[in-house]
Amino acid sequence: MQSPLTSPTIEEQAKSTAPNGQVFPLPSEADYAAESERLRSLVAEQRLMGREIVVVMGVGFVGAVMAGVVADTVDQSGSPSKFVIGMQRPSPRSFWKIPTINQGICPVQAEDPEVAPLISRCVLDKKTLIATYSYEALALADVVVVDVQCDYHKKDFGNVRSGHAEIGALEDSLKVIGEYISPDCLVLIETTVPPGTTEYVAYPIIKKAFERRGLVQTSPVKHPKGGHGFTGQADVRDQKSDERSTKDEGRGTVAEQSISSANRFPPTASRSTKHEERRTEAAEPLLAHSFERVMPGRNYVSSIRDFWRVCSGINDQARQRVEKFLSEVLNVQDYPLTVLDRPLESETCKIVENSYRATILAFLNEWSLFSETNGVDLMKVIDAIKVRPTHDNIIFPGPGIGGYCLPKDGGLGVWAYHTLMGFEQDIFKITPQAIDINDTRALRPAQLTRDALRNMGKIVAASKIAVLGASYREDVGDTRYSGSEIVVRKLTEMGGDVVVHDPYVKHWFEFEQQETYPGAGHSRKEFFRNQDGLTDMRMAENLDQALRGADAVVLAVRHQEYQNLDPDTVVTQIGHPAAIIDCFGLLSDEQIKRYFELGCEVKGLGRGHVKRMKDQVKEKAPHTNLCMILGSGSPAMQWYRLRM
Ligand SMILES: NC(=O)c1ccc[n+]([C@@H]2O[C@H](COP(=O)([O-])OP(=O)(O)OC[C@H]3O[C@@H](n4cnc5c(N)ncnc54)[C@H](O)[C@@H]3O)[C@@H](O)[C@H]2O)c1
Repeated sequence: MQSPLTSPTIEEQAKSTAPNGQVFPLPSEADYAAESERLRSLVAEQRLMGREIVVVMGVGFVGAVMAGVVADTVDQSGSPSKFVIGMQRPSPRSFWKIPTINQGICPVQAEDPEVAPLISRCVLDKKTLIATYSYEALALADVVVVDVQCDYHKKDFGNVRSGHAEIGALEDSLKVIGEYISPDCLVLIETTVPPGTTEYVAYPIIKKAFERRGLVQTSPVKHPKGGHGFTGQADVRDQKSDERSTKDEGRGTVAEQSISSANRFPPTASRSTKHEERRTEAAEPLLAHSFERVMPGRNYVSSIRDFWRVCSGINDQARQRVEKFLSEVLNVQDYPLTVLDRPLESETCKIVENSYRATILAFLNEWSLFSETNGVDLMKVIDAIKVRPTHDNIIFPGPGIGGYCLPKDGGLGVWAYHTLMGFEQDIFKITPQAIDINDTRALRPAQLTRDALRNMGKIVAASKIAVLGASYREDVGDTRYSGSEIVVRKLTEMGGDVVVHDPYVKHWFEFEQQETYPGAGHSRKEFFRNQDGLTDMRMAENLDQALRGADAVVLAVRHQEYQNLDPDTVVTQIGHPAAIIDCFGLLSDEQIKRYFELGCEVKGLGRGHVKRMKDQVKEKAPHTNLCMILGSGSPAMQWYRLRM
């Protein structure tokens, strides 16, 4: 994390480049004072309008859209009731998100047509959303929503157990929060965290920061017993609410105290004298947890706003506050909240939920291999099973299970059990194994490409291979831990010349910046040989460019653009018959047959029936050959069909 106390050196770069190429200089020391002034005056105006000030920390895939959902909230009279400040650290990789949001543009791209208008409406029309790099925003907040990342670093390919949770960015964020916030500010952690983080990590960090700042309270406080039972809480918030209803005099005082330093250095005890006078015991942090179930894609916004949420608070007051806040910003009438007793339970809920998903996907890997070697089409088998209401969530695993969540969340749970909680027993069998199976599944498309090329008398090492789809799932531009990355890396290791197309991805940073992305030494490049040249790989500008001259085409992601590619057009674009590898059940039987008729070789994950179809086409070879010579729609071919 960029420390708030240090300015970026020249080596750390002084600019941040957006994916569309726009370059933004990073803020200088002098900019911070002006930014604090801007925040202070905007918040003062918003308070006069009676709006609650919400800071969303981390405006990435989750935070950017969550910030929009909160900023769009209205009260019963239809007036906006929240003012949202998206807070983003000014790192070269992420700073561009701030000016981008302030222009009314969402920093994440998605198919959902609601995303762009939501951000533009809140920033430009309703003026309820801004973004900043200044931690001073925290000092002005009634609620801080934490949406920063919490990574899991894997040391070995296909072995989640040898990795570890990287909670450093989150710990740094919590330290900064503890140094800035008012004690009556609700801190809502939405980040997916190792179970126990809110109670064992966040609570002590913020509590100690409050102690250092001399933040005390007069009402009695029950301290946690045996790591839980966070029931006592001084009623700091209620006093503040009363003050806010009379135009927020008390609140304004806290804000002024924090901002008065007119710089971005953490507040000190001297800035909180009003609290000191009134309180006699260390203030208790108001911590809550509610994980996100967002699905970036076609229903991006509604997967945040119109979806069931689970939440919990570290004590009664935090629980009431989080229930109230979420009930105001989300559609809880149609999707009621589930309130659990402890943050540990809601944290565990998220990890179990995603481990369950990862496990049912991993389970199908062995049946996918079974299908390939026994003439079975797993796609049809799954469709046949799905009709049972008890089994309708069975889904076909693509070329490895990517995205930011499923490849790591089970690992966070196992790590927490051993590390945060200190247990030695080896109780986890299925959870880590599922992740390992999912991580290594992406090697299979490279093997199928090798075999299909071999059947055409070619080898990977002398072939151009077009991979269609870079993201981890259909119709999104999120490439994090995508199966396609491993497909590209493995084929490159085998000597293939790989070209990639994806309608949603203009720059594939996992390759272009593989020395530093997703972190220095954390690229999956480390697991393969012959990867250095991939730094220069650039995305194909269009499908035609990707396909031209390819010896093999890997259909890696079920993007809409690839759903109904016409085999005749594809082969014409390529210029000759090629190996076609279907990783996601994209091809219909008709399309598979047609590719064979056109002289192509077809293979697919879990699609063992292609061999049968190949044999059928071979049996009709005279017809097929004529078709290719005469043209399938030609009068001569029509005459031939009538005679047969
Ligand atoms: N992406 C998903 O589909 C999804 C779904 C459900 C849950 N989640 C969870 O939500 C959390 C966030 O995920 P994401 O996909 O939005 O990650 P992301 O990497 O896109 O966004 C995190 C943002 O936080 C910023 N950040 C980090 N430290 C900061 C700090 N100290 N101050 C301010 N900003 C800081 C980063 O620069 C980045 O922009 C994760 O825990 C993830 O597991 C993600």
